[in-house]
Amino acid sequence: MSYYKIQNLEHYFKMYKKSVREPKKFWDKIADENFVWYQKWDKVFDVNMQEAQFKWFLDAKVNITKNCIDRHLARRGDKTAIIFEPNNPEEEALHISYNELYKRVSKMANVLREQGVKKGDRVCIYLPMIPELAVAVLACARIGAIHSVIFAGFSASAVAARIQDCECSMVITSDGGYRGEKTINLKGIIDEALEKCPTVEKVLMVKRTHETVPMKDGRDIWLQPLLDNALDNNVAEIMDAEDPLFILYTSGSTGKPKGMLHTTAGYMVYTGYTFKNVFNYEENDIFWCTADIGWITGHSYILYGPLLNGATTVIFEGVPSYPDFSRFWEVIEKHNVTQFYTAPTAIRALAKENLDYVQRFPLSSLKVIGSVGEPINEEAWHWYNDHVGGKRCPLVDTWWQTETGGIMISPIPFVTPTKPTYASLPLPGIQPVLMDELRNEIEGNQVTGSLCIKFPWPSIARTIWGDHQRYKETYFTAFPGKYFTGDGALRDEVGYYRITGRVDDVVIVSGHNLGTAPIEDAINEHPAVAESAIVGFPHDIKGNALYGFIILKEVGESRDRNNLAKEINQLVSDQIGPIAKLDKIQFVSGLPKTRSGKIMRRILRKIAEGDFSNFGDISTLLNPEIVDEIKDNRV
Ligand code: WT7
Repeated sequence: MSYYKIQNLEHYFKMYKKSVREPKKFWDKIADENFVWYQKWDKVFDVNMQEAQFKWFLDAKVNITKNCIDRHLARRGDKTAIIFEPNNPEEEALHISYNELYKRVSKMANVLREQGVKKGDRVCIYLPMIPELAVAVLACARIGAIHSVIFAGFSASAVAARIQDCECSMVITSDGGYRGEKTINLKGIIDEALEKCPTVEKVLMVKRTHETVPMKDGRDIWLQPLLDNALDNNVAEIMDAEDPLFILYTSGSTGKPKGMLHTTAGYMVYTGYTFKNVFNYEENDIFWCTADIGWITGHSYILYGPLLNGATTVIFEGVPSYPDFSRFWEVIEKHNVTQFYTAPTAIRALAKENLDYVQRFPLSSLKVIGSVGEPINEEAWHWYNDHVGGKRCPLVDTWWQTETGGIMISPIPFVTPTKPTYASLPLPGIQPVLMDELRNEIEGNQVTGSLCIKFPWPSIARTIWGDHQRYKETYFTAFPGKYFTGDGALRDEVGYYRITGRVDDVVIVSGHNLGTAPIEDAINEHPAVAESAIVGFPHDIKGNALYGFIILKEVGESRDRNNLAKEINQLVSDQIGPIAKLDKIQFVSGLPKTRSGKIMRRILRKIAEGDFSNFGDISTLLNPEIVDEIKDNRV
C-alpha cells in the first residue's frame, strides 16, 4: 500500500506506527517517491531537541519550484494551477495554467536576478491577494532568495520592524489593493516604513489599482515593463535541502515579532504530504483556502501544498461580506470548489447572518471542508457542518502553527471519524504529548495539559531569524527535550485531541495571533499612559477580543476619557495594525501585582470575561484591594 495516501483507518494506524517506530524509513520513502531531486540525501535526519538543531534530508539538492511547476508541465501543462477570483465579482476571474505559471515565474525570477537579487538575499513581499503575490513568492524560491511575506494589513511601523529584522534588500509591493469596499494604500505604508529601512535598495511596483502613487527615483521601479522584456524560461537555482526557503513573522508573548525560518526540503515534503491527506486531494479537485498568503496557512495551503500536488488552487482577493454575505458560497458554486478551508471567525460572522445567504446554494461540488486558526466552538462547528458541508462533507479541524510549517493534528477525511470541536488524531510522524505543571508527561486518556511534541517532523521551523537562543528558550526549555506549542489541550477517552487555547500571553483575535506585550508597549508610548495590561476575552465573532486595563499618568487624569481611548487605539493601529485595536478600555488606578511585580493576568482575564465567581488565590498580591475597584468599574 502507498505511503503517500492514507486509505482507511487501519492504514492510518499502520502508517502512524511505522512513522513512530521507523521515522527514517517512513520519511525516506515519502520523500523518495513523491518529489523530484537533483540529488538525494545521505541521511534522512539529524536532530537534537535540546539544542534545537534540525536537519532533514541531509545534503540533498532540490528546488521547490521544480516540484511545484516544472515537473507538472509534461502531464498538466494546460491544467489550471491558479484561479484568481478578484474582489469585485464583476471583474473576470483569471485561470492561470501550469504552462503560464511557469512563464510568469520564470520572467519574475529573471527580473529579480537582473535587479541584483542573489541566493540568500531577503525579499519582502507586501502585496494584496493577487496572482503577482504567488508569482513573486515562487520566483524568490526559484532563485534561492528568502521570501518574507508581510500581510498587507500591517502598519508602517510593523512592516519596518520586520524588514529591519531580516535586512531585506528589496520590497515587492503595489500601488494599492482592493478589499471589499476599501482601497488600501500599500505604497504609502511602504514609503513610510522605508524611511527607517536603510537596507532596502529597490522597490518593485505592481500595478493593481491605477491610483497615482509617488515613485522614488532610483529606488522604485514599475514591474510590468521589466517583465515584458524578460525571458520566459529560467534555470532554477540548485538548493541544498537545508537552505532557507522563507521567513514568516509571528507574534511572541514578549518582545518583537519572531521571524520563523523554514528551510527547503523538509517543508516541501511535509506540506506536500499533508495537503494530499488532510484534504483527500485527487486530480481535478478545485481547492480553496480563504486565508491570506501573508500567513502560514496561505504559504502552505494556498501555494506550496496544492502546487506540489499539481492541484488547482483558488486565490481570492476579497472578503466574505462583499458584495454581500453569500460571496464565499457564490465563489464555491462559480468555480466548483471541492475543498473549502477557512477560519472559525469567518464561520461565526457568516452564521449570524440570514440563513438564506448560504441556503440559496446547493454547494454540491464540495467534498471536504476545513477549519484552521483557533478552536472552533460547538455552535460554529455544527453550522459549518450542516449548512456548508450539508452533513455529507467531513469537517477537518486542523491544528498547527506558523512554527510547525504544516498541519499536525487533524482528521483525515473519509478515514478518521470526526467529533465536533476536536482536531482528533495526530498525522503520521507527529507525536503529541500532554505535560503537567511538574513537567511530567501525562499518560492515559481523559486528561488535560500543556501540548508538546516529543519528536521532530520535517517542517519544524529551524530557528528564529538572527536569534537562535530565543528560539531555544521559547520552544525547548519549558519542557526539556520537547517542543512546547504554547497551547493547552485535552485528550478524550479514545485519544482524540481538543485544543483548548493558548496558555501563554498570546491572544488569537479573528484567527490572528497577537502578543499582548507589543500592544502594551505601543500603548505605553502614549504620553498620558503610565502602565497597561492587555488580556483577551471571549467574543462572539472574533473568538477573542482585547480588553485593556490602563493606568494614567497625572497629566492624563484631567483629560476626557473617550478621547484618550480613541488616541490609544489609534496608536495601536499605527504601530501594529487595526486588527490589534482594543474592544474595551478601562482606566484603572492600579493593576493586581504579585510581590515580585508580575501582573496577575488571570484575575484580569476573569474580570474581562465578567466572571467574578472565583479569583483563586490572591494572597500573593501586593495590592488585593485593587481587585474590587477594577471589578466594580468593568466596562
Ligand atoms: C495558533 C497558531 C496554523 C494556521 C494558522 C494559525 C491556534 C490554530 C487551531 C485549531 C485550535 C488552533 C493555536 C496555535 N490554532 N489552529 N484547529 N484549533 N487552535 O497560525 O498564527 O501561528 O497560530 O493558532 O493556538 O498555537 P499561527
